[in-house]
Amino acid sequence: MSTHGTQGTHGTQATQGSNDGLNGTGPGRRALLGAAVLGAGATVLGLPATARADEKKHGSGDYSGDYKSLPKPTIIGHRGASGYRPEHTLGSYQLALDLGAHIIEAGDLVPTKDGHLVCRHEPEIGGTTDVAAHPEFADRRTTKLLDGVSTTGWFTEDFTLAELKTLRAKERVPANRPHNTLYDGRWEIPTFEEVLRWRAEQSRKRGKQVWIYPELKHPTYFRKLGLGLEERVAKVLRKHGLDKKNSPVILQSFEPTSIERLNKLVGNPLAVLLSAANSRPWDFVETGDPRTTADLVKPAGLRWIASYAQGIGPTLDLIIPKDTAGNLTTPTTLVRDAHAEGLILHPYTMRNENPFLPTNFRKGTDADAYGDAFGAFATYFATGIDGVFTDNPDTGLLAREDFLRKS
Ligand code: G3P
Ligand code: CA
Repeated sequence: MSTHGTQGTHGTQATQGSNDGLNGTGPGRRALLGAAVLGAGATVLGLPATARADEKKHGSGDYSGDYKSLPKPTIIGHRGASGYRPEHTLGSYQLALDLGAHIIEAGDLVPTKDGHLVCRHEPEIGGTTDVAAHPEFADRRTTKLLDGVSTTGWFTEDFTLAELKTLRAKERVPANRPHNTLYDGRWEIPTFEEVLRWRAEQSRKRGKQVWIYPELKHPTYFRKLGLGLEERVAKVLRKHGLDKKNSPVILQSFEPTSIERLNKLVGNPLAVLLSAANSRPWDFVETGDPRTTADLVKPAGLRWIASYAQGIGPTLDLIIPKDTAGNLTTPTTLVRDAHAEGLILHPYTMRNENPFLPTNFRKGTDADAYGDAFGAFATYFATGIDGVFTDNPDTGLLAREDFLRKS
């Protein structure tokens, strides 16, 4: 299976497709810019009094220093505010912050040939940059086996940072998010160091810590290439004084052994991402560990994760499975079981557009239109999750206010 130009893999075997589901078609007519402007206005004005009062009940408004004091449910800007801007750009991160997201997923981290960490969802960058329009890089296009998946395109590990900096980011799913193409070509690929400097500056401006939630991508794949991620991430965090237990940085990975390795290198809160129930983390495949995600979400598996991590990031389907028609069914016991082991849950990913919502929350047949995202958020919040990754942090924050008002 080639993943050229698509969302890529989750570093698992038998992954049932990315939770992205970014395969909708058709031109959309949404007021994305309007939504963004309204969200930014809400930030300028501050939270409504009801929400401020709710912070006392659900988490401190000043939540620097302790992940347990993050407001709940925590709204995590997935790849920034990627519903409105090309993902993993400083523009996307800035908008997520301006919209009021409690944490920004900045970024998904992959290395360059010369060992720098940059923010891209996948090492393959054909779908998220203008690399195909650079004739000087035409001969870098190649096919690789990435966590068992044949993948064709251009890979960050084949470029120096200086070369990558000549590229510009573009919208990954223009068919679903045509308005976002307005910003194609505007931003570079950010480095992790640039993100940390941006974070520090924004924290100074706001007088409180800005939280970020970087993910280490394909750690086993990169280690075999001599580009181990964990030591590089630890070194950069240490340099910026952000490697402590109370640092405003949560680290995540789909590979449990990567999180175990990080646990020995840094004090940050850590989260193990969990893909489809019948998948196996790629590090397990490589080491011969027979456990699947279905094993890891059992109490014994969760207890094992809790021995080196503070949280899990399951697919939303592990919280509420869907039937064959894509409708939500009955919640699993995962929230209760994870909480029993002291783990927080930050499932992924909520998106406003119809194709990414459960069938029973879609509106009409336009694959590009917004569905009943508020209804879906409310249903997931009711399970007791501690937060959620979303491409639309402004929608998530409004849904959170509704939820807190009613709870
Ligand atoms: O990190 C949470 C979520 O982002 C995992 O999925 O594929 O978007 O990195 P992905
Ligand atoms: Ca991610």
